[in-house]
Amino acid sequence: MKSILEICLAFGLLATLCSTTVILNSEDNKKIANIGPRYNSPVLHTLNDSSLRCGEVLNSTSGGISYKAFEPIEPNERCVWIIRGGNTDGFNVNILYLGYESNPNGTQLIASCLRHYFEAFHIILNQTGPNPYLSFCNVLMITFSSGSNVGNSTGFVLQYEALGGGAVSPRSTDHIIQTGDPGVIKYPESAAEYDNNEFTTFVFEPTQNIFSPGKRINLIYIKGLMETSFDVLRVYVFNSNSIEPEKWEYKGVIDDNHNQTEIIFNQDLILVEFHSDRNNPGTGFQFIHTTSGVEGCNL
Ligand SMILES: *[C@@H]1O[C@H](CO)[C@@H](O)[C@H](O)[C@H]1NC(C)=O
Ligand SMILES: *[C@@H]1O[C@H](CO)[C@@H](O)[C@H](O)[C@H]1NC(C)=O
Ligand SMILES: *[C@@H]1O[C@H](CO)[C@@H](O)[C@H](O)[C@H]1NC(C)=O
Ligand SMILES: *[C@@H]1O[C@H](CO)[C@@H](O)[C@H](O)[C@H]1NC(C)=O
Ligand SMILES: *[C@@H]1O[C@H](CO)[C@@H](O)[C@H](O)[C@H]1NC(C)=O
Ligand SMILES: *[C@@H]1O[C@H](CO)[C@@H](O)[C@H](O)[C@H]1NC(C)=O
Repeated sequence: MKSILEICLAFGLLATLCSTTVILNSEDNKKIANIGPRYNSPVLHTLNDSSLRCGEVLNSTSGGISYKAFEPIEPNERCVWIIRGGNTDGFNVNILYLGYESNPNGTQLIASCLRHYFEAFHIILNQTGPNPYLSFCNVLMITFSSGSNVGNSTGFVLQYEALGGGAVSPRSTDHIIQTGDPGVIKYPESAAEYDNNEFTTFVFEPTQNIFSPGKRINLIYIKGLMETSFDVLRVYVFNSNSIEPEKWEYKGVIDDNHNQTEIIFNQDLILVEFHSDRNNPGTGFQFIHTTSGVEGCNL
């Protein structure tokens, strides 16, 4: 009940809505579940863009994510939100509610600060309140990863505001790809060439957003044409078996000097960033994704 009150206050909700919440609460805890959806919608409607789903691209300059704030979470969930926020070079992020005990071996919420031309860094969002470390990022990636034992935990609520001032190509886009069935990603999809100063992202996630230890995501990179050395892909994998508190691992660069083809194996999530510089755009690249079967294949 305390946390719900805190959320009400943080959002500056109408006093009437808060008091209704409190009365229902003291009568019957189960009613929290019923008022959840009613509570969520008016709040997030005041923001430009909001997400209640497991994983989405948010393009607006301000918004929020309210994921399972009033529902139990499931074990091994993998949800990724990409916050583009217009064309920005920084964000204000405020964590309003965390419904679980943050644990490096269990449930975690991570903000990844993605930056044109630089390597990303990752911050574990383990407490409520504003986070001061995200003011120099072009794109924000939020990863919600639940552990194998979630008890009666619930999800989280956060709010963001983009600070503006970004200078990446407006043709930069964000792609969240479910890897249940095999598929081919061609980039750029329809244009003959990608643009200068692009910063485009691809996240590959498991079927139904549930991590399954026996099932791999395999990505095969196929060379097209990227300006040698200057236009590159940066690859990151999420490794929940890692003993590090931070589960996103940087795997390095794919460029056309060295990598004709490349296979990336992972059981969890994969992030690929595409960076282009200020001139000489090329025709791009392709990825094939599968969830099994490439181990024995000779490329
Ligand atoms: C919401 O979006 C509109 C237009 O897209 C913009 O003018 C306005 O500043 C945004 N509001 C906030 C709070 O970001
Ligand atoms: C996480 O797991 C590792 C290895 O099993 C263990 O050493 C560590 O103490 C655990 N950390 C927490 C916070 O449970
Ligand atoms: C939150 O995570 C940081 C490292 O990212 C750590 O230093 C801090 O102790 C953690 N706080 C809690 C309450 O777990
Ligand atoms: C969740 O379960 C723990 C013990 O299993 C209990 O102490 C705690 O009060 C429960 N939390 C809620 C919100 O029901
Ligand atoms: C946000 O941008 C992505 C492409 O980057 C697009 O697929 C998606 O539809 C956009 N979402 C909204 C709500 O405009
Ligand atoms: C691309 O090739 C280079 C040089 O062989 C290698 O160091 C790098 O790890 C490869 N990139 C990936 C993502 O495997």
